[in-house]
Amino acid sequence: MFEQATYLISSPSYDQCPKPDKFEIAFIGRSNVGKSSLINMLTGRKNLAKTSGKPGKTQLINHFLIDDSWYLVDLPGYGYAKTSKKNRDAWALMIEDYLVHRESLQIVFVLIDSRLDPQKIDLEFITWLGENGVPFALVFTKADKQSVNKGQQNMAKFKRVMKKDWAELPPFFLTSSETGLGKEQITSYIQSLLEN
Ligand code: GTP
Ligand code: MG
Repeated sequence: MFEQATYLISSPSYDQCPKPDKFEIAFIGRSNVGKSSLINMLTGRKNLAKTSGKPGKTQLINHFLIDDSWYLVDLPGYGYAKTSKKNRDAWALMIEDYLVHRESLQIVFVLIDSRLDPQKIDLEFITWLGENGVPFALVFTKADKQSVNKGQQNMAKFKRVMKKDWAELPPFFLTSSETGLGKEQITSYIQSLLEN
């Protein structure tokens, strides 16, 4: 698993992505939540996906080829305030088109900042995923920035909010790209999907 990871291509729209002939998983979430860092942590490669202290770093659909057999995808973040509405709308369309039309996409990991109470923007996004039948798992990031307890509490709050509207809850993971927390859990989860 993750023996080999290579950057393949960045695409401006889903129909320009590589042929959908491989198992594929994608990472999404608010700008700056730690998507690119998580991909680097999982693959054990410091600079595979470009990270930045400034939000809005990732702007295209980035495909990485893993172990010559499947794709991992880094997506641009949603909810980046410091850009024009026109830009935001274009990004939303690009991401939504990809999520709805990419037939080889198995699951989307939605990243959420573990330091925050449940945020409207994240809840709205997963509601949209549910309405569009896109399977997802939730990853709570940056757990090292506070006590593990606090991260777990925020995760529990998120579960409570979701239980009001969802009959079934998705998988939840608590992670840190700094310490590697959650790496094994996510890796085995992806492995189990690959085997099915
Ligand atoms: P965009 O591509 O702009 O949407 O951002 P992104 O979600 O890919 O975030 P990125 O991985 O670039 O990380 C944003 C910032 O958060 C960087 O300064 C990272 O070093 C920091 N960061 C990400 N994950 C963690 C983490 O688990 N712990 C800590 N302490 N910092 C993190
Ligand atoms: Mg990024």
